[in-house]
Amino acid sequence: MAGKLMHALQYDSYGGGAAGLKHVEVPVPRAKKDEVLIKVEATSLNPYDLNIQKGVARPFLPRSFPYIPSIDIAGEVVGVGPGAENFKTGDKVVAVLSASSGGGLAEFAVAKKSLSVARPPEISAAEAAGLPIAGLTAYEALTQCAGVKLDGSGNRKNILITAASGGVGHYAVQLAKLGNTYVTAACGARNIEFVKSLGADEVLDYKTPEGSALKSPSGKKYDAVIHCVRAAGISWSSFEPNLSENGKVIHLTPGPGVMITFAVKKLTFSKKQLIPLISTPNGEKLKHLVNLVKEGKL
Ligand SMILES: NC(=O)c1ccc[n+]([C@@H]2O[C@H](COP(=O)([O-])OP(=O)(O)OC[C@H]3O[C@@H](n4cnc5c(N)ncnc54)[C@H](OP(=O)(O)O)[C@@H]3O)[C@@H](O)[C@H]2O)c1
Repeated sequence: MAGKLMHALQYDSYGGGAAGLKHVEVPVPRAKKDEVLIKVEATSLNPYDLNIQKGVARPFLPRSFPYIPSIDIAGEVVGVGPGAENFKTGDKVVAVLSASSGGGLAEFAVAKKSLSVARPPEISAAEAAGLPIAGLTAYEALTQCAGVKLDGSGNRKNILITAASGGVGHYAVQLAKLGNTYVTAACGARNIEFVKSLGADEVLDYKTPEGSALKSPSGKKYDAVIHCVRAAGISWSSFEPNLSENGKVIHLTPGPGVMITFAVKKLTFSKKQLIPLISTPNGEKLKHLVNLVKEGKL
């Protein structure tokens, strides 16, 4: 592949949304130590990609311009760098690319071997490409922050999932139901049947007064909230009366206001906690998720 060109979409400054993307031909990247070169069959875009383009993480991300967005990909291994010989040409994989260099909206991309996972034939490239960031975030929020055990053991927990019809939320509902949980899900009216079909025990339409107050229709108090709505959406005062004595809100879009509430709750030894979460891509966890999809559990 050395010296060959590939098609890609990239932008060369902050802002501009989809219109800021330019179709270009650039050299095919090379797999270095512990990396694999993947021919991209499918990729997915997350709110993360839009936020990076907007400049939310400037000056750290992107590391440089021009930048090819998207970090969730599925495809076929076409090259193996030194140290990545556990993969071979022709292997189907799902991978998370480096956040700083991106690269998914292209014909070829390089991924670390540690963040590349074999994709079984039961899972299409499109299904696989939708899994990494959204699935891993839901997994981390439930297992590490909320303490849900996906084998169904552990004490029963009441869980609220906001934006349950979204990328993270729809995985969170399904993963939560693998545990010993009662799941209340909040979404828009058009998605109520969809979210029920994922296994939610009760569903709130967030545009109704009860829904926007986050009240469980069956009167449950939540042991954990997986809060997937963007930061400006819902304040602590809406969660607080609906939490159990030791209830936690796991917040996926932690801005300055969230960090202040987090610090205040910690410093005042509040039993009810706000937990900001920035998920960290992890190959072992991605493998677990791929297995759940293969087994038809996700
Ligand atoms: N911290 C991390 O590591 C991390 C990782 C991934 C994502 N995130 C963040 O998590 C958020 C969700 O990401 P995503 O990929 O799931 O986004 P998404 O697929 O765009 O989902 C957004 C969902 O929000 C729903 N929604 C909007 N307002 C709502 C409300 N008031 N109550 C309930 N649902 C509401 C919409 O539901 P309807 O269509 O039903 O109206 C839509 O399905 C984003 O802010 C993203 O940046 C953080």
